[in-house]
Amino acid sequence: MEYTLIQIVHLLCATLFIGVVFFELVILEGIRKSMPDDTMAAVETGLIGRVKYIMPWVVGTLFLSGIALAYHYFKDLADPLSSSFHVLLMIKIALALSVLVHFVTALRSGVNGCMESTRFKYTHLSVAIHMLFIVILAKLMFVVHW
Ligand code: HEM
Repeated sequence: MEYTLIQIVHLLCATLFIGVVFFELVILEGIRKSMPDDTMAAVETGLIGRVKYIMPWVVGTLFLSGIALAYHYFKDLADPLSSSFHVLLMIKIALALSVLVHFVTALRSGVNGCMESTRFKYTHLSVAIHMLFIVILAKLMFVVHW
């Protein structure tokens, strides 16, 4: 029951995080060309202001719940690479850590005012690609066996 609750929290936080990245990449980047540069810069500043209050809680809960879930699979294991499930889970965790580095770096740059539009765009693209592989791995690790 407790494990299922943590799974639901993890899934909800992942959904929120992926939703925000999808919105920024597909919706926001989609209107960039039809917007004056200064309007777009003002929208990005406003967005960073909101993101810096809300997303640390979402990302923090996502990682804490992920660690609790992973502990369940690794706690009695002598070799963390002992099965295809564990190898794929380790790759998923490595990608998630890379997302965390992207997130913290982008947030710090945004707060310091040195996140220009091109970097904003490429950070979103890179995080979105990471997310895609994380979600595919989260499913494959349960069905692929070698
Ligand atoms: C960007 C960060 C992350 C995203 C987007 C993400 C996404 C997901 C998704 C969508 C699932 C659901 C798979 C399913 O039940 O169908 C999942 C499961 C899981 N995640 Fe994450 N995750 C992230 C970070 C992490 C981290 C940092 C860890 C561990 C340190 C982790 C460990 C796990 C584990 C162990 C499961 C399997 C849970 C189970 O069903 O038993 N995740 N993740």
